[in-house]
Amino acid sequence: MKVVAICGSPRKGNTEAMLKRVLDGAKSKGAAIELVNLSDKKIEPCRAVCDCFETERKCPIEDDMAEVINKMLAADAIVFGSPDYFKNVSGIMKNFIDRTNGICGKLKGKKAAAVSVGAQDLQNVQFCENVLIEFAKGHEMKLVGSVKATAEKAGEVLKNKEVIKKCLELGKKLSFP
Ligand SMILES: Cc1cc2nc3c(=O)[nH]c(=O)nc-3n(C[C@H](O)[C@H](O)[C@H](O)COP(=O)(O)O)c2cc1C
Repeated sequence: MKVVAICGSPRKGNTEAMLKRVLDGAKSKGAAIELVNLSDKKIEPCRAVCDCFETERKCPIEDDMAEVINKMLAADAIVFGSPDYFKNVSGIMKNFIDRTNGICGKLKGKKAAAVSVGAQDLQNVQFCENVLIEFAKGHEMKLVGSVKATAEKAGEVLKNKEVIKKCLELGKKLSFP
């Protein structure tokens, strides 16, 4: 069982902290784990060439997206995490989402989970959470759960024991075959 976390924050902050707790939970149940920080990768926006989608040809963009796609294809479960930016996911997460157009159907049946965090109230963060949930559903993944939180400064979310517990539990759920 391999669980991969995809982090859409440009900083080492709350999203990464939540994802790390999800991975801790998965590891405690014996899963192999990997954290992918999109901010460490070069992932350009989709150019709508659509070679990836409508033909057998590959996406002409030469960046790190193929590497991230291979990690997702090899995973049994994937947790997606993003900070709430204007009631949406971050720009780097949205670029990543758009670039998965060419693998529609290939993530089908894999387990999925989401974590999202914003500085305002949970109602605001819900819009960001919904983007991640609908993304996973669009890929016909099996959504096992989602955790959202409020926190502003990097790492502040770690003070929220309830959220951290929920993240650990989510990781355990992801790691069941
Ligand atoms: C460009 C930008 C836009 C943001 N927009 C919102 C927002 O609309 N709602 C909100 O609750 N927080 C918003 N925030 C705050 C972040 O979501 C919050 O600080 C979060 O904890 C960041 O997560 P991170 O530490 O993983 O980067 C915004 C932050 C930035 C930098």
